Amino acid sequence: MARLRIEKVSKTFGASMAVREVELDIADGEFMVLLGPSGCGKSTLLRMVAGLEEPSSGRILLDDSDITHLAPQRRDLAMVFQSYALYPHLTVAKNIGFPLRARRTPRAAIARRVAEVAAVLGLGELLERKPANLSGGQRQRVALARAMVRDPGAFLMDEPLSNLDAKLRSATRAELITLHRTLRTTFLYVTHDQVEAMTMADRIALLNDGRVEQVGTPAELYDRPNSTFVAGFLGAPPMNLFPATVTPRDGRLHLIATGVDIVLPYAAGAETEPLAVTAGIRPERLRPDPAGAITGRVEMVENLGSEELLHLGTGEHTLGVRVPRPAGVATGELLGVHADPADVHLFDAATGLRLRWREPDSGAPIDRDARVAVA
Ligand SMILES: Nc1ncnc2c1ncn2[C@@H]1O[C@H](COP(=O)(O)OP(=O)(O)OP(=O)(O)O)[C@@H](O)[C@H]1O
Ligand SMILES: [Mg+2]
Repeated sequence: MARLRIEKVSKTFGASMAVREVELDIADGEFMVLLGPSGCGKSTLLRMVAGLEEPSSGRILLDDSDITHLAPQRRDLAMVFQSYALYPHLTVAKNIGFPLRARRTPRAAIARRVAEVAAVLGLGELLERKPANLSGGQRQRVALARAMVRDPGAFLMDEPLSNLDAKLRSATRAELITLHRTLRTTFLYVTHDQVEAMTMADRIALLNDGRVEQVGTPAELYDRPNSTFVAGFLGAPPMNLFPATVTPRDGRLHLIATGVDIVLPYAAGAETEPLAVTAGIRPERLRPDPAGAITGRVEMVENLGSEELLHLGTGEHTLGVRVPRPAGVATGELLGVHADPADVHLFDAATGLRLRWREPDSGAPIDRDARVAVA
């Protein structure tokens, strides 16, 4: 069991900065996912925790000991990579027991431990096979078993499922979730797959260009994104993000854009001028309604199987509207769409950071300092 703390860790490669002052506190037993687009620094951060890469600055602590400069094999961590890197000439049992043999554990103890771990992962029948005679999913489980056999303080995983086909990936994902529930070991898990992150994580750290953009539960990131980056990264189809203004009108604040006039749940207070914002509304939060605050023309109807995605052209932007299928809406049709004001996310037009009012209807001005704790 282990708590992992990453304190102001940075990594530069020559002139480029791959990881920038990352702060993360991962609780004992927590499943933390590092999520972000390709090249954002996920693997570099994980490799620094593993000891495979030296931080340029900052500290890494495992429980209360500083492991920043400790050799990888002396850290109480087990790493599982995207490529399973099994020894082809060794049986499954020998592959799993390898870390223990390297530590000169007695033979009987190794056999006992290998059998235990193999049982947990459903590999009991496969112990005498060679890796060449296993499926991709089975190989990945052997790699996992090899990591588990030492009973490490924490697991570090870098896209361990990305080589598996869709069906196997979803099955192995479920296995990993169960495994974490059973073992209650700390996981630090890298992926660029938002479905993996949303389904597996206790908390997600979303990285953007080497920085932590937001840390929180999957629901927190999805429901209250701190920035347009987070808003646009999570969700498929993605959140509608469009330029708009927050304009005082008749004592209320309105969200105004071409084809959009949504009365916000805020009394106009100190605001007298329209404020330029980026507005965000998730496609599944919009629904056709002749009296709706958004009007546009249906440009395309996309069949998603159980649902349809309507592309609604408002004159300036195209908004996605996700509706049950069939919605009975035709291309070219003029459509009104309802948006609940509570579902409108507002971001500073210049910085992309979330805007908040101190209190609905208090008349207090917009809080531009979106980086402070979200209320
Ligand atoms: N050894 C290295 N030398 C120089 N640059 C590196 C090295 N390792 C990584 N980088 C750079 O650091 C940045 C972050 O890379 P990293 O592999 O951590 O990204 P990632 O988030 O894991 O991406 P992916 O999802 O594609 O695996 C990239 O710009 C990459 O080119
Ligand atoms: Mg990577």
